[in-house]
Amino acid sequence: MTKLSRREALFGLAGLGAAALAPGIAGAQSAPAWTLGYANAPAGGYGPERLRLIHGAAPRGLAGALYRNGPAWFRYPDSAVTHWFDGDGLIRRFAFEDGAVRHTARFVDTNKRKVEQAANGVVMAGFGTPGRADAVVAHADSTNAANTAVLPVNGQIWALWEAGSPIAVDATSLETAGLKTLRADLAHMPFLAHPKVEPSGRIWNLGVAGSRAIVWRLSAEGAVEHAQVIDLPRADYVHDWAMTERHLLVLLQPWTMGEGRPPFVDKLKWRGDAPFLVLVLDKDDLSRRRVFEAPAMSFFHTGDAWEDGSGAIRVDLCASPDPSWTMTSARDVLRGVHRRDVHGPELVGLTLYPDGRTEVQRTGVRGEFPQTDRRRQGKRRALTALLAQPAADHPGETAVTLWDWERGRGESYDFGTHHMVEEMLMVPYGPEERDCWLVGTSLNLKARATELHVLDARRLSRGPVASWRSAHAAPLGFHGAFVR
Ligand SMILES: [Fe+2]
Repeated sequence: MTKLSRREALFGLAGLGAAALAPGIAGAQSAPAWTLGYANAPAGGYGPERLRLIHGAAPRGLAGALYRNGPAWFRYPDSAVTHWFDGDGLIRRFAFEDGAVRHTARFVDTNKRKVEQAANGVVMAGFGTPGRADAVVAHADSTNAANTAVLPVNGQIWALWEAGSPIAVDATSLETAGLKTLRADLAHMPFLAHPKVEPSGRIWNLGVAGSRAIVWRLSAEGAVEHAQVIDLPRADYVHDWAMTERHLLVLLQPWTMGEGRPPFVDKLKWRGDAPFLVLVLDKDDLSRRRVFEAPAMSFFHTGDAWEDGSGAIRVDLCASPDPSWTMTSARDVLRGVHRRDVHGPELVGLTLYPDGRTEVQRTGVRGEFPQTDRRRQGKRRALTALLAQPAADHPGETAVTLWDWERGRGESYDFGTHHMVEEMLMVPYGPEERDCWLVGTSLNLKARATELHVLDARRLSRGPVASWRSAHAAPLGFHGAFVR
């Protein structure tokens, strides 16, 4: 039996071919083109560059900037992170100005990135990366990758992770301003990457640590109005949650924290025989709570939630039978391995009835990254936009679908199998819910370049009204926000 080097043992790379062991594999000419989505971005980021218009014309009235965040640095000469969720956060800005688009991207200058760039190697433990035993970890923000989402607040952009603080960056230069300590006595407390913003601008969020959570309520300017620690019924993994006008919904999949050594994901145990729980909290009095039970399912993202006239609460989410994608595929992609046997999520509706019953409504649409009209956060709505049609020959989705809950059907546009489509935001241009642009990026594997697209939700199947191409193939990101 071949003796493993310390690095191979540490990163679990045994059993793969020599090519897959090379830290620089992703993006190399010999590797499949889709590995560009998981390659290191240049250390200095991208741009500023003016994107090249390749189709249509920018819609009149579309002004502002799309900000996106995602992991974009994975590898050093002799080590690599071992999970997609552990790359360093790169903030990208696509500014629409007079029909043209300018693109800039900069890494968030986190403690993790400073330490690892200085060491020229992976040091910190992450979601799925064990890290080095001699890493200096003073608190959660020592390992904060700031790589998951963005929240525009008071003229700044907050780069969000989930186990530590937001990190503020300048909205124009993307230079890192620093950690946001929301309240001195709550420094380094977790702040999830999926805050919910009421139409008034008030910001709600959770931070979750085991069987306890902190409920954050911030003003539109980002000042803490209220923060309260609550007990949860179970110590489950929570990435996203939901909010109605009157309630907060903590959705608890039976993926429960147990004992064990880092990384974090290896401490989570899936218990498919246990129910999915929904803790419903009254926004005005967090001690007023109800717990609903539904069949076991795993999820990362919700669309939103709302209450109908009967008192029932509706929430939509992209749900899988189990979390195997996160435990296997999200590691494999960094090694250039695409598994076709892992079942991706499906958009489902979950209804919580006043009498305690729950009901799951399936749509048959397989996909991820659900988005809604953010003017309707917590309010009744009909639409969910999501990425759909998982490809056979790469780990991404090729289409965007707009699902209509009232009509019980969806409409799609498929970019083709040579695209890996990224989250598409609903950017309103009129008062109706369907009066919106879908704005987002894709990685064009034939052109080996990132593209930016604008589609009209009223004519989705016709495809983009405008597309631009970057000179670069940027790694795939997670979540964005559009700022007018
Ligand atoms: Fe997310």
